[in-house]
Parts: sequence; structure tokens; C-alpha cells
Amino acid sequence: MKTFKTLKLKIRQFSIKYFIILIPIFGIIALIALSALLNLTSDKSIKISTKNAQKSCRDWNNYEQIYKEMIRKGPGENGTAVILTDDNELALNKKLFSATGFGVVVSDRISVNRSIKDTRHPNCQKYLYPEELPNVSIIIIFYNEVFSVLQRTLHSIVNRTPPELLHEIILVNDMSSNSELYDPLEDYVLDNFPNTTIRIKNLLERKGLIVTRLEGAEIATGEVLVFFDSHTEVNVNWLPPLLTPIKANRRLATNPTIDYFSPETFKVDGAPHYSDRGAFDWELIWHQLSRKVPDGYNKLKPYPNPIMLGCAFAIDRKFFMEELDGYDRDFRIWNAENYELSFKLWLCADGLYEVPCSRITHTFRTLNPSRSNVPYDYLGRNFKRLVEVWFDDHKDVVYDRNRERYDKIDPGDLNRPKSVRARLNCKNFKYFLDYVIPELIMKYPIDKKVPVFASGQIKSMLNVSYCMDFVKGQNNETARLKNCKEGDIPESQYFRMTFHKNIVFGHTELCLDAYNINFLECHYTEFGNQFWRFNLKSNMINNGSDDNKSCLTADFEEHKLYMKTCNVSDINQKWKFSYQNSTALNDWENIYGYEKYFYAGQEINWNSMLPLEYDEECSMD
Ligand SMILES: *[C@@H]1O[C@H](CO)[C@@H](O)[C@H](O)[C@H]1NC(C)=O
Ligand SMILES: *[C@@H]1O[C@H](CO)[C@@H](O)[C@H](O)[C@H]1NC(C)=O
Ligand SMILES: *[C@@H]1O[C@H](CO)[C@@H](O)[C@H](O)[C@H]1NC(C)=O
Ligand SMILES: *[C@@H]1O[C@H](CO)[C@@H](O)[C@H](O)[C@H]1NC(C)=O
Ligand SMILES: *[C@@H]1O[C@H](CO)[C@@H](O)[C@H](O)[C@H]1NC(C)=O
Ligand SMILES: *[C@@H]1O[C@H](CO)[C@@H](O)[C@H](O)[C@H]1NC(C)=O
Ligand SMILES: *[C@@H]1O[C@H](CO)[C@@H](O)[C@H](O)[C@H]1NC(C)=O
Ligand SMILES: *[C@@H]1O[C@H](CO)[C@@H](O)[C@H](O)[C@H]1NC(C)=O
Ligand SMILES: *[C@@H]1O[C@H](CO)[C@@H](O)[C@H](O)[C@H]1NC(C)=O
Ligand SMILES: *[C@@H]1O[C@H](CO)[C@@H](O)[C@H](O)[C@H]1NC(C)=O
Repeated sequence: MKTFKTLKLKIRQFSIKYFIILIPIFGIIALIALSALLNLTSDKSIKISTKNAQKSCRDWNNYEQIYKEMIRKGPGENGTAVILTDDNELALNKKLFSATGFGVVVSDRISVNRSIKDTRHPNCQKYLYPEELPNVSIIIIFYNEVFSVLQRTLHSIVNRTPPELLHEIILVNDMSSNSELYDPLEDYVLDNFPNTTIRIKNLLERKGLIVTRLEGAEIATGEVLVFFDSHTEVNVNWLPPLLTPIKANRRLATNPTIDYFSPETFKVDGAPHYSDRGAFDWELIWHQLSRKVPDGYNKLKPYPNPIMLGCAFAIDRKFFMEELDGYDRDFRIWNAENYELSFKLWLCADGLYEVPCSRITHTFRTLNPSRSNVPYDYLGRNFKRLVEVWFDDHKDVVYDRNRERYDKIDPGDLNRPKSVRARLNCKNFKYFLDYVIPELIMKYPIDKKVPVFASGQIKSMLNVSYCMDFVKGQNNETARLKNCKEGDIPESQYFRMTFHKNIVFGHTELCLDAYNINFLECHYTEFGNQFWRFNLKSNMINNGSDDNKSCLTADFEEHKLYMKTCNVSDINQKWKFSYQNSTALNDWENIYGYEKYFYAGQEINWNSMLPLEYDEECSMD
């Protein structure tokens, strides 16, 4: 292991070397940046001589790599977008996008070694972590992943992970049909990563994300398992902060903060520094709630995360495989396993913590070839297994959302997951709601019959044969004016003006947003672009917060909707819902507002949030 002295020596050599190259390239900006970095390193030598020194804390930043990446130039470097201009390339890219969910031409153009911007909070650079940390087996499973995307995942890991902590990388191929992912991948790995143990396991049968991950975990021999999706790029110094809590307490798990890159342009967008808490609604859709920590808590320290997203996390191998029994092996394809593991961690062990100074970038594909064409409701089945094992007296809250769906699903044999829960003597589901995520039932009330102000079709009063209609685009869902369907209200014309004072599409979590008159994930705030008011007297749908200044207006020529200054005589601004609760609408100011309805008298004491159950070996304060 490098000592601090030699590490610093290396920094010097590098900085001097690159100083000379950099001046003409970046000029004054680079000079400032470099001198800031050099200052930082000298800061560290001061820090190391203080209280942390005797505890063998180490600056794990790999400055050699950081400098190397700072001077890289080319498409997509520093996480920038690549925009194609050539018509042929655009056409090919579009074609491949619909087959894979990725801009393949764009990906192929970007170096496998590309740099991405350091999205950490600047203070993260200065923290020290223990010198001794457990090593990791990184498990990456894939099904028909785009070759260059997978290559970039591997290079980013090898480039930005301390070799002494990287025990191995395990690739598990879930029986892809793309032949590039067999021999060419093996050759690529042998040629490019001679100094890293990379093992490849090819499954002979499609097993889905969940069982495929377990297949990887079964052959792993590192001390800690890290699970990654195959479209992930790790950021600077991502691993030591992620391992530090696990070293101190092997019965908890950690997840990095997850930034996002676009599957079209590969542009990286950083998540907020003090990110969010994972949660779910009662239709079991994953959501983020805003982050709450006790007063005075250093926000860059790991903090409790109720529900993991699942695309990236670290967990002690023996704890996961032997104590927690991994995942439910009868979950199919994808989804529910992240809830299951989060419940296990919070109800049967010491929890899950998100680490703000550990960052990776990941993408959500809008199209996923591995999940289409599954001929049965695997997701409903997974959810039913999850609910049967974990939800105790809250099972019906989920089932009542969709009786028709759940009644006909046979969840299969639940013996094994149920006996794991019994063996671990886990707490009940109520504990999770009361102590791990007390804000959940405020955001997602258990009683689905919370009154709505108005619902059904939204008809123009100028021409009652026109209704607002939900139009699904490729990446955008917009509201348009279309002919009102008669008879049963069609799905695309059913809206609800809820107690949140939002206009929600059906029973989804998509809310009408005034900025582009499209549907975006609901914010649930009583301000901003999703805060509306329906005025029963004027029949106008106006801005909930700007004093009647702008109103939803029909454009019959273009069949669209837009916001325009309110004018009570303008009949293009008059609307009618199929159902209107006049009692509620007439009492608008006084009732139901989300904040009023749910937070009233229900103070949450964030100071009593579960404290982190580990000793900080190298203080972050
Ligand atoms: C990378 O991008 C970030 C912001 O997007 C910028 O602050 C930084 O200077 C860039 N780094 C390089 C080496 O260009
Ligand atoms: C990526 O980086 C590795 C290690 O520095 C180097 O061996 C390899 O040639 C690079 N590959 C490309 C395509 O730049
Ligand atoms: C990782 O840890 C295991 C168990 O302590 C050890 O056997 C193995 O040699 C370590 N791997 C590396 C690469 O140091
Ligand atoms: C592998 O390690 C050897 C010996 O340390 C070194 O010479 C070589 O450059 C390394 N190769 C790569 C691709 O990192
Ligand atoms: C309403 O629109 C329909 C369809 O475009 C049209 O046939 C009808 O004449 C319009 N009615 C009025 C009152 O403008
Ligand atoms: C939505 O996406 C479609 C197809 O990608 C595009 O044609 C349309 O202009 C977009 N609409 C808006 C409002 O952005
Ligand atoms: C309402 O007005 C506020 C302030 O002008 C604005 O920020 C918001 O986007 C508007 N919202 C709607 C739904 O029109
Ligand atoms: C908004 O309009 C309604 C009905 O036209 C009116 O009663 C109300 O006072 C108006 N609000 C403001 C702040 O002007
Ligand atoms: C309001 O609408 C009426 C009817 O369309 C129109 O005559 C009037 O000029 C409008 N007022 C303003 C201020 O735009
Ligand atoms: C209408 O709103 C009132 C509250 O003002 C509520 O008590 C009532 O249950 C609502 N009616 C329906 C049918 O939702």
C-alpha cells in the first residue's frame, strides 16, 4: 500500500509535468484549478498530522488519475453531451435507439476511458477514510447490453477503483442473444484488463435480474459485494466512502448517490448534493422524498435511506448470502427485490445508508428490451410475493389499489422467504412506517378515498365536444384537445383535481405541469407549475398561486392548450369537469390543501431519526 509520502511525491511529479502542457491549453482557468488542488493536498498533510493520524486514515483520492482525466479531450469528455449532426448517423442512431434504448452511435464515439465531471460536494475531496478497508467483488449482470456501454462501465471501474480494494469483477451474462457479448467480450477483457481479475459467467437460461445477480454472488469471493447495472460509470474516489460504514458495521448496507446520464446524448447530470430518500407509493412505484436529517448533522455523512433504487449498492458478502439469504429466488425478471432487501435491512438488521460522497452515474432507459414481451404479469407476481411476506396488516392497502389484478395472481410458494423473516426475528411492517419513513403515509395516504375536488373528463365550455386528452409521446406526455369520447370515460381523458390541488392523470403519479402543458411526475407542493385551482364560479382553471393571472386556455385551431392571462369574458378559458364536488370547491381556501390536510398536527421529529449505527474511525467533522 502506498504511503502518504510517496503518494504526495507522485502528485508533485504529475502536477509539474502537466503544468507545462496545461498552460497553453487551458490557460488561466486551469492554473487556478490546479493551484486550488495543490492547496488541497497540502491541507491534507496538515490534517493527517492531527487526530486522524494515529488511526491510520488515508487520503484515497487517486490524484494521478484525476490529473490524467483533467486533460482529456474529445467527444463526451467530462460528461458532456454528444450531438450528432450527420443525417446518416442520426438515422442509424435512431434505429439503434429503438432496438436497444441507447444512442449506440453516440456511445461508440465516446472513449471507453472518458472522464466525467466530479459531481461530489467540494468538501468530499478532503475527507480521509480508513487505511484498511474490505475488498470487493463487483457484480455486473447484463442482458444484450450495448457493447461500448458495458466496456465503459468496466473501464470506469478499473480506472477509478483502488486496485488493492478491487478483488474481482464478475460479469454475468443472462443469456444475451447478441453474439458480441460472448467471445468478443472475453477477448476484450483479456486484452484490456491484464491486471484485474474479471470473471465471466454465461447463463444457459434466461433468469432475470434478480436470480442472475445471485448467480454472480454465489461465485464471488471478495469480502463485500457491490452490485452495479451494466450502464454505470463510477466517479472519483467512489469506493472508500461506500465501504467505510460497512467496515464498521457489517450488518448494514450502503448505496452511492446516483447521478444520471442521458441514454441519448450520454450527458451526465449530477443529483443534488444532499440527495433524496427512496420511498414507494401504494401501487409500489418507487419515488424519492426530500431528504431529512437531524439538526446539526453533517449532511455529507451517510444518512438513512429507507428504500434503495437497486441499481448500485454495497453489502457484506457473508451477511447478504448467509444471514439475509440474498433475494427471494422466485422473484421474476426485475423489480420488488430492491424493496425486499431494504425491508430486510431495516426490519432485520442495521439499515441502509446513502453515501453523499460516493457517486456513480447511471441511466434509466426509456425502452428496455429485456422487459418487453414477457407474456404474464411478472411484476404483479413479484409484488404479491413481497406484500405477502412483508406487509403484515398493510397488505390490503396495496391490494385495494387494484383488486382485479392481485386477486387473480398466484404468488407461488412463499415458504423460503417467510422462514428467513421468521429466523431473523424481524420487526413488523408498522415499525418501518413509524420509524424508518414516517413521512410516507403523509405523501401517500393509506386511505385511497381522500376526496377529490373534481374528476373525469375536462370539457371545453366553448365547444363541449372537445376534451383535454393525455397524449403519450416518446419521452414526453402532453395534454392536447381532442374529441370527447362518449360513454365510459376513456383512460386518456380521465383526470382528477386532487386534494393536493394538482391535476392528476388517472390514478398515476403524473401531474399536469403549466410550464409546457405536459405531464410530469407529481411534486406535491402547493406552489410552482403543478399547483392549480379550479374556480367553480368562473369555470376557469387557473394558477393556484398567482392570483388569477394565468389560465388554462384552449386553442381550437391547433388542438392544443396553453397558459394565457385570465379574462373572465374569454370563453376559451371556461372548463367543466364531469364530476365537480361543489361543497369542496366552494370551500377551496379552507380545506384539503395537502400541507393542511396531512401535516396538520402531525409534526415529525427528524431529530429522532435512526442514528447511524457505526463508529466513525476517521472523523468527517
Ligand atoms: C467539467 O465540467 C465542470 C462543470 O460541468 C466544470 O466545472 C469543470 O471545470 C470541467 N472540467 C474540465 C476538466 O473541463
Ligand atoms: C483506456 O485506458 C487504458 C488504461 O489507461 C489503456 O490501456 C487503454 O488503451 C485505453 N483505451 C482507449 C480506447 O483509450
Ligand atoms: C480480498 O480479501 C480476501 C479475504 O480477506 C483475501 O483472501 C483476498 O486475497 C483479498 N483480495 C485481494 C485482491 O487482496
Ligand atoms: C499491469 O501491471 C504491469 C506491472 O505492474 C504494468 O507494467 C502494466 O502497465 C499494467 N497494465 C495495465 C493495462 O494497466
Ligand atoms: C365543435 O366542434 C365540432 C368538431 O370540430 C364541430 O363539428 C362543431 O360544429 C363545433 N361546435 C361548435 C358549437 O362550435
Ligand atoms: C414530444 O415528443 C415528440 C416525439 O419525440 C415530439 O414530436 C413533440 O414535439 C414533443 N412534444 C413536446 C411538447 O415537446
Ligand atoms: C403560477 O405562478 C407562479 C408564479 O408566477 C409560477 O411560478 C407557476 O409556474 C405558475 N403555476 C401554474 C400552474 O401556472
Ligand atoms: C380570483 O378569481 C376569483 C373569481 O373570479 C375571485 O373570487 C378571487 O377573489 C380572485 N382572487 C384574487 C386574489 O384576485
Ligand atoms: C377578454 O375577452 C373578451 C372576449 O373575448 C375580449 O373582448 C376582451 O378584449 C378581452 N380582454 C382583454 C383584456 O384581453
Ligand atoms: C365533497 O367534499 C366534501 C368536503 O367538502 C366531502 O366531505 C365529501 O365527502 C365530498 N364528496 C364526495 C362524493 O367526495
